[in-house]
Amino acid sequence: MAFTDAFLEELRAKNEISEVIGSYVNLKKAGRLYKGLCPFHGEKTPSFTVYPDTQSFYCFGCGVGGDVIGFIRKAENLDYTEAIKLLADRSGIAMPESGYDDSMLKRRNRIYEMNKEAARFFFNQLIDEKNRHALQYYFDRGYTFETIKHFGLGYAPDSWDALKKHLNELRFSNEELYEANLLKKSAKGGYYDNFRGRVMVPIIDLRGRVVAFGGRVLDDSKPKYINTSDTLAYKKTHQIFAMNFAKSHAENGLILCEGYMDVIALHQAGFENAVASCGTALTPEQVRVIAKYTDTVILSQDADEAGRKAVDKSIALFSDVGIKVRVLNIQGAKDPDEFIQKFGADRFKALIEGAETDTEYKLLLAKQKYDLSSPAQLADYVGEAARILSELSPVKRDIYASEIAEQTKVSKQAILSESKRYAGKVGRTKRREINRSAMQMQSEKDKINPEKRRYKAAALAEERIIAVLLCHPDLCAAAQAALGDDDFVTAFNKHIYAVVTRRIQAGESLQLSSLGQELTMEEVGALAGLEAMGKTLSNPQQELRESIATLKEEKRKLLKPDLAAMSDEEFRKLFEN
Ligand code: UTP
Ligand code: MN
Repeated sequence: MAFTDAFLEELRAKNEISEVIGSYVNLKKAGRLYKGLCPFHGEKTPSFTVYPDTQSFYCFGCGVGGDVIGFIRKAENLDYTEAIKLLADRSGIAMPESGYDDSMLKRRNRIYEMNKEAARFFFNQLIDEKNRHALQYYFDRGYTFETIKHFGLGYAPDSWDALKKHLNELRFSNEELYEANLLKKSAKGGYYDNFRGRVMVPIIDLRGRVVAFGGRVLDDSKPKYINTSDTLAYKKTHQIFAMNFAKSHAENGLILCEGYMDVIALHQAGFENAVASCGTALTPEQVRVIAKYTDTVILSQDADEAGRKAVDKSIALFSDVGIKVRVLNIQGAKDPDEFIQKFGADRFKALIEGAETDTEYKLLLAKQKYDLSSPAQLADYVGEAARILSELSPVKRDIYASEIAEQTKVSKQAILSESKRYAGKVGRTKRREINRSAMQMQSEKDKINPEKRRYKAAALAEERIIAVLLCHPDLCAAAQAALGDDDFVTAFNKHIYAVVTRRIQAGESLQLSSLGQELTMEEVGALAGLEAMGKTLSNPQQELRESIATLKEEKRKLLKPDLAAMSDEEFRKLFEN
């Protein structure tokens, strides 16, 4: 199973952690460290730290940490061997001939192969004379043949086994095709095509691989779309449709639509920065993908109630990571696709240029809710507007207050003082929310060692002992002389201590990249945190001595029953024993 320490050492040396992470995160040098905004949770002040001297990283916000391999695993959503392969490819190191488990890698690669062949099959079906009606469907929607080729669009014939037969001939087994979600299984265990009688849109990842499909019916029947469900090669909550094309057109912002068809129509009309989420509401993971390429998003959701709700949620998600949002106000058409069809690309461009900021959009929505000729409703509108302004900087608040004052003939002073009142309230709620999320994050961090909550003092002492040994392996003998494995209280730390001391005694590497072979990614992450702590200790000998004393004391307290707190019954039992 294992990679040799020598191989891992070379891999590590050729993949300097700050360089690798630097291509994902904007890192700033701070003394001997680098700091940046954590790519794994939303934050506005950097708590994500990279340590070149130990080639590790740790986020003090969310507790994620590890070595360069762990980083790649998390950032690219890969398993251990795949991450190593990626780093080996990146730095031109040959993978060892054999001896490691790459079964997941192989299965995933098979899915890419199957999907590629399926996409080819669907395209060939589309241009086959017998399926003329499918090609006609696209032409009726105004798509050119160029566009069809560019997106690799296709047609899944109305058959239970056309794709199955074709891919069986190419030596893909039914089990494999099932794993790729290209086939489904009947109750009796027979396999049949998942996509039947549908026009097919391949979903392509950033590295150009076909990872999934969306298939649409040609008429009004339901369900309108069938999408590939999650597979080893696809996680729909992480994927952005057409990002493979849009990523090189993202400087001036990305246009985020709801549907595949909107995106395709927009690209054809020259808006190659259009993308969509893949049949789900926008997720924080998708927001992070977008944040890698741009700092401005133009929301172009459908002009219906669902679309408006989606806009509200999206604005919140984007503002969490500091992305500027503008909102398109599509009128006279239900979505961008229909808008372009009806009014043309120039009008759409004008729409983009006139797109409201998120504040303008919110104010507009508020205004539409009320009849401003009624004094009671006018007051409600001004109240709601004041609440919207309360989230802004004082300058912006002033500008918008002037506008609202003019609209409503309510004095600007009244609007401003009302919104200040809200700002105070909002500030308090926000602070409470921040505290709550910090607590949630802390409990996330503690999840790895569930006993830590009950035996806090003992667990902290254990952690300090491990932290010392990670940074000062020469103190291992001293620790072992004073401490047996059984002195540990929490099972998690006991396990980690055993692994670490065994490696030190055997003269094996303590690099996180080597530890990754016998510990899980989460365990390595916890170790990265301990290592970060170990580095800050000024007197390791003393720290070790005191921590051992604390731990022993805690252990003794646990062994010695608390007589005063015992019931008579318990007391009697103890003495019978
Ligand atoms: P829409 O219903 O707006 O579809 O759903 P559309 O893309 O504009 O298609 P046309 O123009 O009516 O042909 C928007 C997106 O929601 C997802 C799809 O990703 C779709 O592109 N969706 C919708 C589904 O996944 N399943 C459905 O049944 C419907
Ligand atoms: Mn549509």
